[in-house]
Amino acid sequence: MATVNKTQKISSKSTFLQEVVGYNRQVPLLNGTFQRYINFDNAASTPALKPVLDKVNEAMEWYSSIHRGTGFKSQLCSRIYDQAREVVADFVNIDPASHAIIFGKNATEAINKLARRMRLAKDQIVLVSKMEHHSNDLPWRANGQVKHIGILEDGQLDLEDLVHLLKKYYGKTALVALTGASNVTGWVNDIAKIAGLCHEYGTKLLVDAAQLAPHRRIDMKPDDDPEHIDFLVISAHKIYAPFGSGALIGDKDFFKDGDPDDVGGGTIKIVDLDYAHWSEPPEKDEAGTPNTIGVIAFAKALLTIMETGIERIVEHEKKLTGYILKNMAGIPGIEIYGSSDPAIVDNRLGVISFNIKDIPHALTAAILNYEGGIGVRNGCFCAQPYIKELLGINSAEGVEIKQQILRGDRSRLPGAVRVSFGFYNTPEEIDRFIELLKIIATGEYEGKYLLDKQRGEYHPEGYSPSYTKYFQL
Ligand SMILES: Cc1ncc(COP(=O)(O)O)c(C=O)c1O
Repeated sequence: MATVNKTQKISSKSTFLQEVVGYNRQVPLLNGTFQRYINFDNAASTPALKPVLDKVNEAMEWYSSIHRGTGFKSQLCSRIYDQAREVVADFVNIDPASHAIIFGKNATEAINKLARRMRLAKDQIVLVSKMEHHSNDLPWRANGQVKHIGILEDGQLDLEDLVHLLKKYYGKTALVALTGASNVTGWVNDIAKIAGLCHEYGTKLLVDAAQLAPHRRIDMKPDDDPEHIDFLVISAHKIYAPFGSGALIGDKDFFKDGDPDDVGGGTIKIVDLDYAHWSEPPEKDEAGTPNTIGVIAFAKALLTIMETGIERIVEHEKKLTGYILKNMAGIPGIEIYGSSDPAIVDNRLGVISFNIKDIPHALTAAILNYEGGIGVRNGCFCAQPYIKELLGINSAEGVEIKQQILRGDRSRLPGAVRVSFGFYNTPEEIDRFIELLKIIATGEYEGKYLLDKQRGEYHPEGYSPSYTKYFQL
């Protein structure tokens, strides 16, 4: 195991907030005052942790090319890069000797790679769910036949439908590709149970853990355990290391088979004009110079989380989720997609998507930004089929909206506002959010907002902050 710098773990006192780079930044508001920025958009990207940024700065002093360099710095960086695989293995509880941990740039790239590497025949089936992020649906559509597992009325995965499809396509299903947790409703899928079902019906399981990994313990389990996970994807920018890396993890034997999807430097043992022999996994699947600094940041983030204790993180985020749901219940006209029950926090994340009756989601998000300094996200969150079903948009409406969007008018884009927590968020931040949400719901906000139809965004009339004052290249 790589060694951990004990002084850099997050303190045992509940001071998570101070461990985040930039947590204290003041941002300008419409009324001319400033507020400390609140980041409630962690499901999109998390800020860097201070220990991660410190490690990146330290690494820059030693940075050099890896694997083929002979100098001291190259040798050192190569060792650290390989140690990072051990850290990832530890985080997901696998043996790095039997598994390939392939570093890449994000979860989307990792899923696309797996889809290409599986080389599915035209009649092979991939089961994906209707709750997937587009990144775990579209790559499969280009490879084999995709069938969608249904969802229940509250947005949870329909396990009966999964079993029905596993039976219906028995012998033809190459893979079940499923998210660990929804980036819209926060529902956490029962991965152990689903893995058991997949293996019972003779298929493999990919878990897209982009959303789950920062919030719950992940255990891929040994291959002889029927509840093991065959393939797993993690994204570093969602787990406090926004430096452009991620990992695809799977059995080494699978990646030994066949040609790599991207070829070039780093992927070969030996090459001549008329042949090329591929390296062993994972190098075979990491074409070109890797993102060493991104991988170091990724590994440091995982180490920091393991040192902090994922259970502490889970407990803190459950409290935040229960607290916000309890307080949102008092907002007139609020509709929460998924569960709004503050007592249900075990099988969901602190990801809450909502609308306030008759107020466009883009307007609510704009007011939270301009009048509260609160960063959220609105729209479909790259999960358009799921959002449509949650919002009950019928197919005729769907066609009409699609045509309007294709004409360049996004004013009727269906969607919701999403709040998503990181483990550093606080109840005081939720109080500020709820206060402003009440103001929005009762129409007592300050600005007069104008809709930019092309972008589907609202901006206050006559106001535009000077962004260059705060940061420039
Ligand atoms: C569930 C899920 N899967 C995949 C992705 C794509 O992740 P990345 O941006 O790392 O490619 C996201 C991003 O929001 C996500 O929430």
